[in-house]
Amino acid sequence: MGKGKNILLCVSGGIAVYKAAALTSKLAQAGYEVKVIMSQSAMEFVQPLTFQALSRNDVYFDTFDEKDSSVIAHIDLADWADLVLLAPATANAIGKLANGIADNMLTTVLLAATSPVWIAPAMNVHMYDHPAVKKNIQTLSDWGYGFIEPSEGFLACGYVGKGRLEEPENIVKLVDAHFRPGQGGLLAGKKVLVTAGPTVEQLDPVRYFSNKSTGKMGYAIAEKAAEMGAEVTLVSGPTHLAPPHGISLVSVETALEMHEAVTGRFPEQDLVIKSAAVADYKPAETFEHKVKKQDGMLSVPMERTPDILKSLGEQKQHQILIGFAAETQSVDLYAKKKLEAKNLDMIVSNNITAEGAGFGTETNLVTFHFKDGSRRDLPLLSKKEVAKELLIEARRLLEGRFQ
Ligand code: CTP
Repeated sequence: MGKGKNILLCVSGGIAVYKAAALTSKLAQAGYEVKVIMSQSAMEFVQPLTFQALSRNDVYFDTFDEKDSSVIAHIDLADWADLVLLAPATANAIGKLANGIADNMLTTVLLAATSPVWIAPAMNVHMYDHPAVKKNIQTLSDWGYGFIEPSEGFLACGYVGKGRLEEPENIVKLVDAHFRPGQGGLLAGKKVLVTAGPTVEQLDPVRYFSNKSTGKMGYAIAEKAAEMGAEVTLVSGPTHLAPPHGISLVSVETALEMHEAVTGRFPEQDLVIKSAAVADYKPAETFEHKVKKQDGMLSVPMERTPDILKSLGEQKQHQILIGFAAETQSVDLYAKKKLEAKNLDMIVSNNITAEGAGFGTETNLVTFHFKDGSRRDLPLLSKKEVAKELLIEARRLLEGRFQ
């Protein structure tokens, strides 16, 4: 699987270093070439010799220990890597990277890296929740670093919560999916188009109409679909999110641009998931210059934008079509109406006034409604978990398509 691909594993110091040893072993078994860099504190937990034996390569921990005089080790290692993994990533290592500090071999190489860098945090639940750590993670995420979220469970410090390093076998699956999109996985060989975020409808050079969508749900779906082996196109309105790894991003602003981007790509898709919050109206006129204020009230004539999902429903042939219905009242009723009116296979409804659901939150409380009238109510889940459940249903619908 991993033949010809170089993974640089940066190990910072926490109890989860032992899992990094298992990760090294599993990556090497999968055929990846693995080189390991350790921080001083990582070496307090496990000897470099362990990583050397498992990776069958030298282990690096000293910026000034130049093993090969023809190259500068930290630059050479950074250039060598096709993918850099920081696992486990301590609060300290994350903090240094987010602030440009390069005071040892590990952090120096991280700053010099030009290939994708994925960070797998592992720490105490309260440390993970600390505003400083959250801010650093957000900064790195905004700069395009990938994150492998820690899972929940028993932590070595005795607490139960979020902070456990993701299991090595799952990290290997993510790495495999990154290098071999479309092979293996629940959605292997499937073409999936996801829309996300808001649309922005300009009134004049400084003002626009938009909505509160942040794109988190759609980006989570795109990321999970890629992890499941799909070939993913993400058509996104403006968001502050870093695009997930291994997907094709098409950036749009307006409902009309989204309509064009989605319609043109529709015929070859197997599955389309429309989680974008598309503006239903746009200003009838977009002014070239800033509109000046006047006395009294202002009316802005608005005209309808195309209903993208409805037009896909009318055109659909073999595709599975999934829509979203974010409502504030009569959720089931409106969701079922949209399912039928737009000729969908499934609609995901949520009451955006419920706690933990809706725009900008990390979680969502949703119900899946199907064409045959059946439904599935999910508990409050992270948007990534909702994405996973949604894609499992999508896979089932794709299978049914051929029956
Ligand atoms: N949608 C779309 N194009 C639009 C409006 C909505 O493709 N112009 C899609 C959304 O991406 C979503 C679904 O239709 O998957 C439902 O969107 P929503 O805004 O909840 O419903 P509307 O159809 O706009 O109906 P209403 O405004 O009456 O609630």
